[in-house]
Amino acid sequence: MKLEVKNICCIGAGYVGGPTMAVIADKCPHIQINVVDLNEQRIALWNSSDLSKLPIYEPGLDEIIERCRGRNLHFSSDIEKNIAKSDMVFISVNTPTKTKGVGAGKASDLKWIDACARQIAKFANGKTIVVEKSTLPVKTAQTVKKILDESEDNTKGNKKFKQFSVLSNPEFLAEGNAVDDLVNPDRVLIGGNDSESINILENIYLSWIDKSKIIKTNLWSSELSKLVANAFLAQRISSINSISALCEATGADINDVALAIGTDKRIGKYFLNPGPGFGGSCFKKDILNLTYICDYYGLKEVSAYWQKVIDINNWQNKRISEMVVEKLFGTITSKKIAILGFSFKSNTNDIRESPAINICKELMIEGCDLHIYDPKVNFEQIVSVIGESKSDLNKDNSHIINEGTWTFAKTVYSAADGADAIIITTEWSEFINIDWKMLSSLLRRPSWVFDTRSIVDTEYIESLGINVWRVGLGN
Ligand code: UDX
Ligand code: ADP
Repeated sequence: MKLEVKNICCIGAGYVGGPTMAVIADKCPHIQINVVDLNEQRIALWNSSDLSKLPIYEPGLDEIIERCRGRNLHFSSDIEKNIAKSDMVFISVNTPTKTKGVGAGKASDLKWIDACARQIAKFANGKTIVVEKSTLPVKTAQTVKKILDESEDNTKGNKKFKQFSVLSNPEFLAEGNAVDDLVNPDRVLIGGNDSESINILENIYLSWIDKSKIIKTNLWSSELSKLVANAFLAQRISSINSISALCEATGADINDVALAIGTDKRIGKYFLNPGPGFGGSCFKKDILNLTYICDYYGLKEVSAYWQKVIDINNWQNKRISEMVVEKLFGTITSKKIAILGFSFKSNTNDIRESPAINICKELMIEGCDLHIYDPKVNFEQIVSVIGESKSDLNKDNSHIINEGTWTFAKTVYSAADGADAIIITTEWSEFINIDWKMLSSLLRRPSWVFDTRSIVDTEYIESLGINVWRVGLGN
């Protein structure tokens, strides 16, 4: 086979497939790339002439889409045709944690991967390299290969007439920084057993990435490395968050501690920001997967060790909502609270596993009146996770005692107008630059700011007569 790919099809136009294919298209103008998805509405948004309507928000992505779309980057719902004409198919579909059946709550739901493998088996022609991009449990590639090789579309009698090679090429992009992570990755990992196919995929990356950054391993090392990378990153966050609670109790400042430990090169300064707990589609899911695999192999202690990273995360999340109620004199019924930020981190509109979800739910149980503002998250997204506000159902706009309400706010200032408290749940730069003087005149006294991201100047806000709680800051 020639070391050159002319047509790529990517199945799944989501947070991974969209930006990854956009950057490959930008760097490899000689390759035609078709990104396909079952979700026709999502495809229509990718094709929208108004670039502010792209289905995912990622800094710098709109410019790349503008350059490449229609040239060598295409978005379509015609899965059959685009698989058929491709030499290489990337699988970038969602793999959430199973909610029922065997492994519920831990194992990944592979039904979309299974469906993809069957589609590829049916429509592919000749030799096709199948690249696993989604985060997947170890040994998934083996399953995909089995479906491809043994599907009835590929066997007539016992003779195979299509050839497939399966590679694992995990994505290490962090949302909000996806374009830079793709353009300047720390490494590119390619796992597989077929060196020819590995070289073909490597050749694509060599268009803009130095060879020294490309790591080639066997399939299982590659699949496992992805889970372990995310588990290690999540572990750092649970570590720093656990110490944030100790700082609050003892009078230390987590920012000082993070600086003091992070300057040790062996520890490193990155990923030491305390917060309300990690969110996003990967960390929790990947650790659960890791514990599931460990349990399967009888490694109970290893499984319990990693489970603790999730336990601390849940605890951090819950202790924040409990602390808000406590500081507001033990009751928040009918009190107005502004929630600033609903995405799981800044610079993304993704709300999957966002810590804001549980914080809002817990506060609503206490009967408060939330006003939620996020620069990129829309009303429908919030409804999808916390439901319609009860107040929407009440024609007279009266509040239901002990069942909270929420309202979608269009600005920080409307969210905060008349509020008893502000909770900063996402570290958007807009919140770092808030005009606190102006805000202080809008709040109801006694007023509080709860900074779960450690981004505000506590002394300044306190000088305006507002009480401040900041994660990891002891008094
Ligand atoms: C992560 C990995 O970083 C990426 O390599 C992998 O491919 C996918 O999963 P992502 O989930 O997009 O990326 O975001 P990340 O920047 O890792 O943040 C995850 C969560 O941890 C966020 O909720 C973030 O706010 C939180 N976080 C991160 C902290 O609380 N403190 C930190 O210091 C860093
Ligand atoms: P990720 O963060 O992993 O990219 P997303 O949920 O953002 O996850 O995107 C995954 C996309 O994959 C969704 O838009 C979904 O519609 C699409 N998808 C899932 N299964 C299939 C399939 N069999 N064929 C085509 N698209 C699929």
